[in-house]
Order: sequence, then C-alpha cells, then structure tokens
Amino acid sequence: LLHDYKHYMMKEIFDQPKALEDMLTGRLTPEGVDLPELAQIWTVEKLKNLRKVDIVASGTSNHAGVIGKKALEQLLDLPVEVSYSSEFIHEHGTLDERNLVILLSQSGETADTLSALREAKKHGCSTLAITNTAGSTLSRKADCTLLTKAGPEFAVASTKAYTSQITALILLAIWMAQRMGSARKEEVSELLQALERLPGDVDSTLIMTHDAIDQFAQLTYDQEHLFLIGRGLDYVLALEGALKLQEVAYIHADAYAAGEMKHGTMALITPGVPVIALATQARVFDKTVSNIKEVKARDAFVVGITTVGDDVLADEVDEVMYIPSTHSLLLPILAAIPLQLLAYYAGTVRGHDVDRPRNLAKSLTVE
Ligand code: F6R
Repeated sequence: LLHDYKHYMMKEIFDQPKALEDMLTGRLTPEGVDLPELAQIWTVEKLKNLRKVDIVASGTSNHAGVIGKKALEQLLDLPVEVSYSSEFIHEHGTLDERNLVILLSQSGETADTLSALREAKKHGCSTLAITNTAGSTLSRKADCTLLTKAGPEFAVASTKAYTSQITALILLAIWMAQRMGSARKEEVSELLQALERLPGDVDSTLIMTHDAIDQFAQLTYDQEHLFLIGRGLDYVLALEGALKLQEVAYIHADAYAAGEMKHGTMALITPGVPVIALATQARVFDKTVSNIKEVKARDAFVVGITTVGDDVLADEVDEVMYIPSTHSLLLPILAAIPLQLLAYYAGTVRGHDVDRPRNLAKSLTVE
C-alpha cells in the first residue's frame, strides 16, 4: 500500500494530483459543473430561497472551509459564515429552513461535527455533508452528500483530504452560481479552465518545491518557533500550514495576517527566526512585500513563496520558492503542498512518527 514511500503522509501528499483528478472527473464538463447528487434535492427555487450559508467543521477541515467561504462569496450573493463544529453546537446565529449548513469532514465521524449536524437539523436547516467517507454517519444523516474522492487517508495529518475539500467547495460554488443565475460568467469560465489544469499544476508544484523544502526543513532542526505570514487567501492557508507544523513536527508555529504583525507580534521576531511569507495573491502582493521588509529588518530568516513570473520577491527574502500561476482561488491548493512537505520533513528530521503524532487520533469520536 505504501509503495516506495516511507510514510503514509508522504504517499498521501504525492497522491494529490490523482486525488484531485478523481475529484474533478465527471464533475467538470464543457458546460460547467455537474453535481447530479445535489440536483435531485436542490431545486432552483430552494436555492434562491436561501438566506445564508454556514460551513461547520473541525481542524484542517475548518481551514478548508474558510477558503471555500471565499469561493462562495465571490460567486454568490449570499453571506457565508465558517464555524468550528465544537463552537457551533453551543453558539450560532438565527437558524431556520432558509439556512444551508455545510458539514465538512474527511472521516464523516467527528463527534463535534455530528453534533453540529443535529443542531442544524433541529432548526430545520438544509444540510449538506462534504466528506471523504461514503456511508459515514455524517453522510447518512445529512440531507445530501458531496463526496471528496481523495481515496482513503491513513496518516493522522490531513493532506489530500484538505485539498480535495477546497476543490469540492469551489465546485459547489460554481454549481450553485450556475443554478441561481448569479454566475459571474467570465470569472466562472476562467475558474473552470484553471480547474482543468489543477492536477497537473499540483504535480508541477511537488516537483518545483520538494528539494528546496527538504533542505529548509533540515535547517529548522533546532528552531522552537516558526511564523507564517500572508494576506487574504494566503493568510487562510498560513493557518493550515501552522496547524500541520504543530501536529507533525511539534514546532510552535503561528500564522499571522501579514499586516497585523506590527500591532503586536513583531515583538517576537528575533534574528534568525524562520518566517514563511506567502505572497501568491496578486491583489495584495505589494502590501505583503512591505510586511516582509518589516520582518527582514528584524533579521528574520524569510522563505518566500510566490508564483512563477514574479521577479520581485527573490530580492526581498533569504530564499524564494515558486509555484505555478493560476486562478487566485486555486493558489492555496498549490501553496499548501510546500507547507505539507515542510511539516513532513521537519517532523522526520526530529525523529517523530509523522503518521501517528503524539496525543492525536485520526477520527475524534468524542466531543
Ligand atoms: C489535522 C487533522 C484534523 C482533522 C479534524 C477533523 O491534520 O487531520 O485537524 O481535520 O480532526 O477531522 P474530520 O475532517 O475527519 O472531521
């Protein structure tokens, strides 16, 4: 099952081009996105009646949800809120039949997320499970299911499930926009073309970043702290990168919105501290570069991640890594790859069992 890989985590990171291919096959059509499993339940009338979308999930799935929120908000005229399942159970806004509650879970068995589903159903909301596990409790109990076809994930740390979840939410956003007539046609057609290239772009990213990340991870061997900074979607991805480093490498890693550093966290930047600066989003690129200059001025060791074609960042950081250029909503999927690899190599260089980190379980069946 492991083939030539030493650990499931590595195998699953390298599974991603295929996992995303499987996710998209049959769903991306020349006319747009086809999701027959939802079409049966959601009439256009029902969709147009929606007042709000809630995305509810735990851990890495929650982080995928935050990226999905940006996709749904860009393509639909609907407010979208993301909550941790464990919080949503006790606190949420008004819920009724005009709310769509999306429960996002790789395993489909996370107790917090199942309780959140019960809460949503109690209030009569429409519910959608997005899960990697057909036949899971979540899938059986929600009104309908969209399967992320990532294949089984054995390592505790979620990698291919995360990128498949983001892809699922982007497909859902396009599908809803098409049916609700709110499709921003040009935006959607650019996104569809970019989705077709996605598995190949993920493959290229693995090749382009693997060796450099491995070398950088060896350098972090004795570091206790690491910071990840970015703006917009890069910030949302930074949260996931920090979680991966914490759980697999046991490094104290924190993510900050790059513009917020000066409001407090800059005090933690000391000479040599590693900072991963995500600068993939064109809209906020210049502002991110200003923030990178601020941490460089405090002598941090900065690794910048940017897109092919950018010739600015290389002069501002200690080391630069490139990922393919694509639609802005898909860049977090590509930029996730070097962060997953970093967690893997930083964990293995410290001698940790990366597939089974201490104190954690793959499926959390208690609240
Ligand atoms: C982190 C990780 C966890 C899970 C979380 C939710 O790498 O895997 O944070 O994402 O426990 O699990 P699921 O998605 O199965 O509900």
